[in-house]
Amino acid sequence: MTEKGLADVVAAQTSVSDIDGKLGKLWYVGYDIHDLAEYSTFEETIFLLHNHRLPNGEELERYTERLVEERELEDFTQGLMPTFAEVSAPMSMLRTAISASSAYDPDGWDHSAEGNERKAIRLTSRIATMIAAYHRIRSGREPVPPDPKLPHAANFLAMLTDEEPDEEGARALDICLILHADHTMNASTFAARVVASTLSDMHSAITAAIAALKGPLHGGANERVMEMLQEIGEPEKADEHVRKLLGDGERIMGFGHRVYKTEDPRATHLRRLSRELGERAGDTRWFEISERVEQAVMDEKGLFPNVDFYAASVYYYLGIPIDLFTTVFAASRVAGWTAHVREQLEDNRLIRPESDYIGPRDQRYVPIEERR
Ligand code: COA
Repeated sequence: MTEKGLADVVAAQTSVSDIDGKLGKLWYVGYDIHDLAEYSTFEETIFLLHNHRLPNGEELERYTERLVEERELEDFTQGLMPTFAEVSAPMSMLRTAISASSAYDPDGWDHSAEGNERKAIRLTSRIATMIAAYHRIRSGREPVPPDPKLPHAANFLAMLTDEEPDEEGARALDICLILHADHTMNASTFAARVVASTLSDMHSAITAAIAALKGPLHGGANERVMEMLQEIGEPEKADEHVRKLLGDGERIMGFGHRVYKTEDPRATHLRRLSRELGERAGDTRWFEISERVEQAVMDEKGLFPNVDFYAASVYYYLGIPIDLFTTVFAASRVAGWTAHVREQLEDNRLIRPESDYIGPRDQRYVPIEERR
């Protein structure tokens, strides 16, 4: 019998990313996440995850052009947005929009390796446009068309706010996208690989991944973190709030991790970004409350913050609405999901584990008239 929640079970071989939970290390294709956060861009990171090497200058230029060319939504998906804006929460919109967009994908019926590579680029590029269009329409405003001159992160912010972001804000989001792009066999990536292993299609795998990411134990935690910070309201109230939550047997969102037993290396960058963006905004309140919560959870439970904890205040400082936080996670993780789907298909075998039956055995079938 394996551990509950498949803890410690190796479910796939991968060359995409690797974690050392004891050392608090994360690598994409052997590159330390700290180096990528400092020197890379989201575009280059997507290339790395998909090609298992860094691009040269010309390759990156061409790859970036391909991503830019795929930003605009097809009329069909664009046409669904007003309905989503009226009736759907953001992650449900994204899950359904990705699924629906498969109908008009130019490679819809092409399940070849080349077709899947094109679909991966298209999906990675368009998720940001979907989120922004949905948000603009639900706020009673016109969607902002993608700007081909801007890099992915800056364009994403520009489409959300209708303002070209300054360099610091755009780079902060770029780093967030790099940090969230892949993370070994997390629940959503596993879901994507399970679906791909049945030889279903790329859109189905990504739809399943989004469905998994939505939950508060996975990507949904970042929104709950910001709600908690707002509820706390001021740094001095953090200790008491944390003690109360823990006393009531509740989990503190943004803390704990299945694999990391020390600081999550992504949290290190997000903590710094939260402080820097707070200072830039002249309002370090959300950073200060976060720091106090971090200290209180460490004192009370010995738990470290995970990627979702400081991402919350970073997104908030960037002016991203709280209920879009998890979709921003998806806009990044789609790079990893699609890379994993392609890797799964390169050497596929149906993922079909066993279960341990714990129900009753040897029951006698009783006709319905004789049942009490
Ligand atoms: N707050 C309070 N206690 C927590 C906790 C948290 N955020 N995370 C874990 N714990 C405690 C559990 O209560 C449990 O304690 P117990 O042994 O006394 O019952 C112990 O730590 C182990 O928790 P468990 O749920 O078995 O760990 P897991 O590996 O299954 O779960 C998470 C990992 C991420 C789901 C879990 O840490 C969690 O729920 N975190 C909050 C949600 C979150 O931030 N998710 C984003 C992940 S990137």
